[in-house]
Amino acid sequence: MKKFSMEELAAYCNQYGFIFQGSEIYGGLANTWDYGPLGTRMKNNLKDAWRYYFIQKRDYSYEIDSDILMNPTVWEASGHLSSFTDPLLDCKECKTRHRADNLINAFDTSANADAMTQAEMLGYIIDNKIPCPRCGKSNFTDIRQFNLMFATQRGVTQSNTNNIYLRPENAQGEYVNYLNVLRTMRTKLPFSIGQIGKAFRNEITPGNFTFRTIEFEQMEFQTFCKEGNDEELYDYFKEYGIEFFEFLGLNKEKLRYHDHDKLAHYAKAACDIEYLFPFGWGEINGTHNRTNFDLTRHQEYSGKSMEYFDEQTQEKYIPYIVESTYGVDRIFLAVLFEALVEEELDKGETRQVLKVSPLLAPIKVNVLPLIKKRHSEKAIEIYNMLKKHFMVSFDDSGNIGKRYRRGDVIGTPYAITVDNNTLDNGTVTLRDRDSMKQITVFTHELVEYIGKTLNFSSIL
Ligand code: GAP
Repeated sequence: MKKFSMEELAAYCNQYGFIFQGSEIYGGLANTWDYGPLGTRMKNNLKDAWRYYFIQKRDYSYEIDSDILMNPTVWEASGHLSSFTDPLLDCKECKTRHRADNLINAFDTSANADAMTQAEMLGYIIDNKIPCPRCGKSNFTDIRQFNLMFATQRGVTQSNTNNIYLRPENAQGEYVNYLNVLRTMRTKLPFSIGQIGKAFRNEITPGNFTFRTIEFEQMEFQTFCKEGNDEELYDYFKEYGIEFFEFLGLNKEKLRYHDHDKLAHYAKAACDIEYLFPFGWGEINGTHNRTNFDLTRHQEYSGKSMEYFDEQTQEKYIPYIVESTYGVDRIFLAVLFEALVEEELDKGETRQVLKVSPLLAPIKVNVLPLIKKRHSEKAIEIYNMLKKHFMVSFDDSGNIGKRYRRGDVIGTPYAITVDNNTLDNGTVTLRDRDSMKQITVFTHELVEYIGKTLNFSSIL
C-alpha cells in the first residue's frame, strides 16, 4: 500500500477540489491556500466533529463566535504586542530572511534553540558557522525580534495611534467574554468556552503546504477552574487530545507528546501533540496551563473585576485557565495523509482511495444508474430522497468500475447501484468503499442503514 508525499498530496488536493493555491491566477500569494468544494465540506465536517467532542458531549461547555478585530488594549494586556515575536536575521550575502531558531534546529536537531536566549542563538550560529539555506554562506545580521501580528488602521487617518490587529489567536475572544458567559449561562467553575475561527500571523518561514500559513483556523477550548485543579485538568486535556485524534481516524503510532522546555510568556506548563507528517513531526495541538495570567492582566488593563465568587467556599479568586487548542488546517492535512493510499488490486490493477472516516467524508453516497437510459429515472428519485439526509452525488458517465473509483478517490463511503432489481423489487446494491463488498438493501431502508454510520455517537 503506497502512501503519498507532500507534493503528491498537494497535487491530489488540487486535482480533486480539496485545496487550491490562494490567488492562483495572479501567481499566488506565499503561504495562502483556498479550500475547494470538497475541502470545504471536509473541513466543515472536521469542525462539526470538534463541536461534537468538545461542546455537545461535554458538560458546562459553551461555544462562542467573537470578532477577529478587538480593542487593541486586548493585545497589550495579553502580552502579544510586546512578546509575540520571532527572532529573525538576514543573510548579508543573498538578502534572504530566516528564523534564527529554525536555522539552529535544522543544523543540529539536538541543539534545542527554544531554550536559548537571543544572544546565545547568535553566538551558536557564529561559532558553528551555520550556512544560509539559500546561498550557503555564513554572514548574517544581528537577530531582531519581529512581531507576528498583522496591523491595520481603523478610520481614515493612518497613524500608529489607531492601529488595530488581526487576532493572532482566538483565545483572547474567549477570555474577554468570560464574564458574559458566566453571567448568561448561570454556570459554575469549572466550565469551558470554545470557539472556531480564523487567526493571522505574519509567518516568514516556508509553509510545507497548509502546515504553516499566514491565515489559518483554530478550534480553541479554554477551561476556567480553581487554582489547584489546573494540573489535573492539564493532564486530562493532554489525553483527551489523543482520544480526539483517534476519533478522527489518526493512527496512535503517528502521534506523540512534545513537552515544552521554553514556555510562552503566559504559561506554567505546555505540551504539544505532534503528528508524523512526511516532512517529520509537526504540532497539531497544544495544551497550556495559562494560570490566572490572562484574566489578571485583563482585570488590570480593563479595570473590570475578573474575580469569581465561589459559593461553596465563600472565597473570591481569579480563575486559572487550561487551554487546549487545535489547528484546523494542520489536522485536515494529517487526516488526508493518514487516509490517502494507493492499493494493489487483483490482476495488477491499483486504486487510489481516501479511507477517511465516513463522518469526515465530503460526500457520503454516490448514486449510480447501472444503465443510463434504463435506470436513470429511478436513480434520480433515490438521489432526491437521499439528499434530504446526506451529501449525495450522482454519476452516470463511464463504466461502473470507473464510477466506483471516482467515489473511492475522494473518500465517498457508499456507492449505490440502481439496476433492474430496483425496478422489479425495490432493492439496490450498496458497495462499501474500503472492503469493496456489496450487499443488497431495500430502498426504503437506505436512510436508516447509512445514517447509522454517519452519526457521531456511532464511533464512540
Ligand atoms: N491560543 C494558543 C495558541 O494560539 P499556538 O500553539 O500558537 O497556541 C495553536 O497555536 C494551534 O494553531 C497550533 O497547534 C497549530 O495547530 C495552529 N497553528 C499555529 N500557527 C499556525 C500557522 N502559522 N499555520 C497553521 N496553523 C497554525
